[in-house]
Amino acid sequence: MKEKLKRMAAESAAELVQDGDVVGLGTGSTARHVLMVLQERVKREKLRITGIPTSSDTRILAAKLGLELGTLEEHPELDIAIDGADQLTERLELIKGGGGALFREKVVACCAKRFVVVADESKLCERLSMPVPVEVLPFAWKPVELALRRAGALEVRLRTGSGKAGPVLTDNGNYILDVDFGRIEQPERLEAEIAKIVGVVECGIFCPALVSEVHLGTRDGVRVLRRPAGGGNRKI
Ligand code: 5RP
Repeated sequence: MKEKLKRMAAESAAELVQDGDVVGLGTGSTARHVLMVLQERVKREKLRITGIPTSSDTRILAAKLGLELGTLEEHPELDIAIDGADQLTERLELIKGGGGALFREKVVACCAKRFVVVADESKLCERLSMPVPVEVLPFAWKPVELALRRAGALEVRLRTGSGKAGPVLTDNGNYILDVDFGRIEQPERLEAEIAKIVGVVECGIFCPALVSEVHLGTRDGVRVLRRPAGGGNRKI
């Protein structure tokens, strides 16, 4: 059922992509559906798009699907970016980074005229509360951990993975800390506070200023959540 809801959200968001667009390609299982829908549109409608992948995983999949790819050097401004989320609210606050791609995901989202989120209904919550992924320079991870605790973190966990002993390394060669702040009442404030810590590369809180809309796959169809007044145009 969940896969069906993800696919519905992906189909709805992929409809927004137009011929000639430069498209940010997100990371994760829902974003994967978007890539597959785009490939179908390329074949069926002869749609011409250039994808900017947000991770090695997405780049490999996109190449396998035959999607044309570009870089931010060639295309520093994107028409649209479509990506998943780990948790989201009706106010368009997000937590991302479950797949460890949060830094490139945030850069690509910031460069897009329109940033569209795709998710199934299980991601919707009243308040963000899951651990926030924070990408850190390996050299600084321990002092950053201390600073995060001073900023109110209840628990800080260095992310480790399967298939490799020790910490997970991101596509940028950094570590990820999963930081439990409990219920997050003011995500924008917390994002700004984390960003101030020297050694932090980026955190997985995405604020409403960055998000244009959310396409949510539900049992009753696709719900589109929008901010009351615009959004999705914050620049780096
Ligand atoms: C990767 C992400 C993903 O978009 C997020 O983890 C959602 O993934 P999924 O669609 O598989 O639930 O932020 O860094």
